[in-house]
Amino acid sequence: MRETRLTAHDFILPLFVSEKLKSRRNIASMPGVSQLALADLPEEAGQAQALGLQAILLFGIPRHKDEEATGAYDDGGIVQEAIRAIKAACPDLVVVTDVCLCEYMSHGHCGVTRRDGNHFHVLNDESVELLAKTALSHAAAGADLVAPSDMMDGRIGAIRQTLDANGFKQTGIISYAAKFASAFYGPFREAAESPPQFGDRRTYQMDSANAMEALREAALDVQEGADIIMVKPALPYLDILWRIRERFEQPTAVYHVSGEYAMVKAAAEKGIFEERAAVLEIMTSLKRAGADFIVTYWARELAKWLSS
Ligand code: PBG
Repeated sequence: MRETRLTAHDFILPLFVSEKLKSRRNIASMPGVSQLALADLPEEAGQAQALGLQAILLFGIPRHKDEEATGAYDDGGIVQEAIRAIKAACPDLVVVTDVCLCEYMSHGHCGVTRRDGNHFHVLNDESVELLAKTALSHAAAGADLVAPSDMMDGRIGAIRQTLDANGFKQTGIISYAAKFASAFYGPFREAAESPPQFGDRRTYQMDSANAMEALREAALDVQEGADIIMVKPALPYLDILWRIRERFEQPTAVYHVSGEYAMVKAAAEKGIFEERAAVLEIMTSLKRAGADFIVTYWARELAKWLSS
């Protein structure tokens, strides 16, 4: 009678790769998650595939940051090298790349900014141009799908056009269609070394109070050519996930984010509840609410638990 069943194919494993590291480094706020060095990737990817996972989501941490995010679209950049390393080791593993500028900008914002005294503005169209360049360089390095997480307006259309015009019609787009400005991204900013140096992200990420706006954002991304639409964070936004899945009938993903992960880890470590049972319940809820794919830092453990 069970209506919802989890399989290893439901999960996408995020991997952080740092240009500054010679070997892996644990992320304090996310027990079990680490930043990897380029040299760790073949083994890491092989292990993910051996566990039955189909896809990984790559984040890069560059050595050098500047005000134009040049590391993001450098053909020899950390993500571009990482894609090549993974594809050389595991050609069948689906490589999804995060397309954003925040890790590459010295100020940590997801786009190009202009400061006027104490106020700052994110310049939408200038940012979209750099994002499209970034997506193209990921596709050229071998990414199967690109996942823009910046929340600028019009970036899905611009990326689709740029990819098509350069012969990457087959490269897919997962759009973070409804990405809310959230307290639950806290630990990620340590993992990706991308905290904003001034201001916050509320001018481009969504207000958690808005559901209709999420539907409008998703409609635009679908219209502009997104193949998969994503909602983020996960548990506090199950209603949004459900509505988007019902309305658009498109493959829909959800990102169970760093703070959601850290929260369960902390409770489990204190013996408040059992980790495995809690995680399986959460993931089942996400799938029941309409997620076709779930990005989660537990992807490896889930693959193990589900096969035993
Ligand atoms: C930004 C980005 C963020 C996450 C993924 N991409 C952080 C943010 O928007 O501040 C968060 C993921 C997580 O918390 O696990 N490029």
